[in-house]
Formats: sequence, structure tokens, C-alpha cells
Amino acid sequence: MRTIPVKTNPPYTVTIGPGLLRDCGARLRERIPPCHMAVVTDSIVGPLYLETVTESLSAAGYAVSTFEFPAGEESKNVSTLSDILEFLARERLTRSDCLIALGGGVVGDMAGFAAAVYLRGIRYVQMPTTMLSAVDSSVGGKTAIDLKAGKNLAGAFLQPAAVLCDTDCLETLPPEVFADGTAEAVKTGVLCDEGLFALFEDGTLKADPAEVIARCVEYKAGVVERDEKEQGERKLLNLGHTVGHAIEKCSGYAIPHGHAVAAGLAVMARAAERLRWTSGPIAERVGRCLEAQGLPVSTEFSPEALAEAALADKKRAGDSITIVVPKEIGTCELLKIPVSELLFVIGTGWEA
Ligand code: GLY
Repeated sequence: MRTIPVKTNPPYTVTIGPGLLRDCGARLRERIPPCHMAVVTDSIVGPLYLETVTESLSAAGYAVSTFEFPAGEESKNVSTLSDILEFLARERLTRSDCLIALGGGVVGDMAGFAAAVYLRGIRYVQMPTTMLSAVDSSVGGKTAIDLKAGKNLAGAFLQPAAVLCDTDCLETLPPEVFADGTAEAVKTGVLCDEGLFALFEDGTLKADPAEVIARCVEYKAGVVERDEKEQGERKLLNLGHTVGHAIEKCSGYAIPHGHAVAAGLAVMARAAERLRWTSGPIAERVGRCLEAQGLPVSTEFSPEALAEAALADKKRAGDSITIVVPKEIGTCELLKIPVSELLFVIGTGWEA
């Protein structure tokens, strides 16, 4: 079992290991006194794990209510958020109670946002069940829903009270769902850790996903501690996401987040290399590594369509947008460019 502290205010820990859903009640009792736990999950995760979690919470002395919504990014909207808030109110949750987000990135983002706005904020716990939520979205307190204009456009920062990452859940994930999270972990390798990146190149990931999760979470915890509200350094975590979010939006969210980020990362690596922003060749290595995980390195959507979709991106500020530029594997930099140059950058890296 690994425990990684996140020293935000208030601080919390990320626990990574097997059997955590089965033991979640006892684990949470170490930090949360008996209260009403509202477990929010989706129609894929609920049938797999909801009973295990509710039994464990009840055995530890918590009152438990549950809410399930249809799985998928198309549920990550104001209508489902409203349903969750009405459920919390119906169940009479108070500020001394707690919400649990049991599932992948969509569940974590949306349940976290509900926790941030219900009664102006109640505590919540993240229980990630996918690789994507384990390595990235369950940590750091970003919560959000999508709007018609774009991804994650309404949300709040609210750090969870705890993250329990049960690695047993990863064993039954379909390969494409596992790969979706791998994309975020490869991104972390390109950002800060060539050794982590190499784990994907030599196949170690499959043997030891807990090691990969721990390395991603350790890095992210440090970034979030230094820049919780994304005023500077945290923007680096958006590597590949300007194009990635645009791909998701252009596909009507049919292309999952990690697959879109993989293509976005490949586009940025090629653009950076072709514009001589890198210290040497990196694009082929990044592309090979992503393809070895079953991830895409290109997109059918034109540079024009992607640049247009990216105009609604949160990373835009007035007439400029901050992009993340890989310099070499393990080192990236932020670069503020005029919005009018985004099409040129995307167009430069678009062709595989
Ligand atoms: N997923 C990027 C971040 O949490 O900042």
C-alpha cells in the first residue's frame, strides 16, 4: 500500500493499493467521523462495485445513500448535476456529511462539482476506478461539467478529503479504457520524468500499474501544492489538452479524453520539433510510445476545425492562449502565443 500526502489547505492523502473498496469504511473512519455518506456513481461502475462500497461503509457505521447516472461524457452536463444536487437535498445531506465519487473521470469531476456547490461546499472523497482517474483526475481538486461551448467550462476547485485508489479495479478494465489513462501517464513522463516515460516503452507499466500511478500522483501532488488554482506551473499539466479538448468537442465527445489527449500530445510534439522549439528530435519517440499503448497519434479533424474549437478553451485569456511545449522527454515549457497563431502551430504538427 502506498500513501502520498497532498499538502494543500486542508491536506489529504492519496492511498494506492489493492482491496481499498472492500476496506473503504474502516479506512475512512480513520479520518471522517460517522455521518451520512452519499455515494455517486455511474451505470457501469455501480453494478460492479456499489454493493461492496455500501456494505463496507455501513459496517463502519456510516448511513449510506446512493445515486447512479448513465455512464459517459454525454452525462457530464448541467442536467445530471442538477439531478445529483436534488438527490443530495432529498437525502437531507448536511455540511457534516460527505459525498463519495465512485468511478472514472466523469463521475469524479461531476460529483466533485456537486460537492463544491451543494450547501456552498461539503466534503467529498474520490474513489477512482479507472486508470485515467487514478493517475490524474481524482487528485488536485479540479471539478467540472461540460457546456455546449466546450469541455469543463463550468466548475470549481475543491480538494477531496481523501483519495482511495483500489488497484484491483484496473484489472477488469477493457484495454481501450485502460489505455485512456495511459495517455495521461505518458503525458506526465513527457512533462517531467523520462524514467516514467521509459516504463511505457519497455512494457513495465502492465506489470506494475501501481508504480505508474504513484509516480504520476507524486508529481501532480507537488505541482498542486505549489499552484493549486492553476495560476502558473499547473498549466503544464495541460500538455496535449488544447488540441485534445478540441478533438473531443469536434467528435461530439465520441472520442474519449485520453485518446484525444494522446493525439493532441503527438501533434504538439511534432509541432515543437518542426518549429525547432525542442532541443532535438522527440516526436517519433513520443508517437511510437503512444502507438505501443494502442493510442492514436493523429486526428481526422482539420487544423482549422481544431483551432476554431480551441477558441472556447479555458486556457485562452483574451487574445492569447498558453500552450505547453515539449523541449525534450521530461522537460516542457509554457508559451503564451496570440490566439491568431494557434492555427499555424496546430497545422505545423498536424501531419503525422
Ligand atoms: N488534469 C490537469 C490538472 O488537474 O490540472
